[in-house]
Amino acid sequence: MSASDGLFKPSALVTGAAQGIGLAICKRLAAEGYPLIMADCNDVVHEAAACLANTGFIVKSVQLDVSQTDEVRDLPRRCKELWARLGVLVNNAGISPKHQGKKKLVEEMDLEEWLRVIDVNLTGTFRVTQQCLAVMKRNRWGRIINITSQAARTRTPVPGAHYAASKAGVTGFSRVLAGEVAQSGITVNCVAPGRIESAMTRAVDGAVNADLVSLIPIGRLGLPEEVAAAVAFFASTDSAYITGTTLDINGGNFML
Ligand SMILES: NC(=O)c1ccc[n+]([C@@H]2O[C@H](COP(=O)([O-])OP(=O)(O)OC[C@H]3O[C@@H](n4cnc5c(N)ncnc54)[C@H](O)[C@@H]3O)[C@@H](O)[C@H]2O)c1
Repeated sequence: MSASDGLFKPSALVTGAAQGIGLAICKRLAAEGYPLIMADCNDVVHEAAACLANTGFIVKSVQLDVSQTDEVRDLPRRCKELWARLGVLVNNAGISPKHQGKKKLVEEMDLEEWLRVIDVNLTGTFRVTQQCLAVMKRNRWGRIINITSQAARTRTPVPGAHYAASKAGVTGFSRVLAGEVAQSGITVNCVAPGRIESAMTRAVDGAVNADLVSLIPIGRLGLPEEVAAAVAFFASTDSAYITGTTLDINGGNFML
């Protein structure tokens, strides 16, 4: 199989696909012709997938917790022929715990919360990626796109230290992996959103988001569809010579 032959697209697995940025990515990739595997720990993923399938797209939904190794290992069996033509993986599932709308400071954070965030955001990315490598290598085609965060790139006040550490970890993981799999036709890139309108962003006080908007040169929060557009670029043949990089999507709030 070659995704570059233009005859058919490889299938795409998106984690955290039930809502927010993940759902926007699914809609965009489906519209571009990728058969989809939509995975999420929340069973509403089945409804989201049914909406897309009803409009004529090829979609399979799986309830999957990326922190459960056995569930991740069972993906090829559950996805069958869509797995055999897998070419795109978007590691989007993520959590950013808040307590009455606020993060916990390092000195008050319990170990359990720290480990949970690392397990979902960082180790979850590792688990799902590792599961996908064999089929991507067999197909000689792979586009691995990891959704990190502005918090991986610079200090941001809203998310906790566990979240920033997990996303910075995904960035490091992506660079090493990019070097390991480049000769197999697989690229690995990160998309680092700033503040994007979603349930995760709404979990903090509205005044906090309003204050942050005042610091964003473009003057508003980002939209999930704007993150999805960057993912679609990395999934395409147009990005063939780009690997190990991070694309910032933050309205100019953080510039290197
Ligand atoms: N919204 C933002 O401003 C923002 C900024 C930077 C990065 N991000 C990242 O973008 C990604 C999507 O965030 P969002 O804003 O759409 O958040 P969201 O909370 O709206 O959606 C996250 C999705 O991930 C799923 N999920 C959570 N834990 C999971 C697990 N263990 N296994 C499988 N699925 C799981 C949830 O059920 C949900 O559907 C996350 O990785 C997040 O860290 C978001």
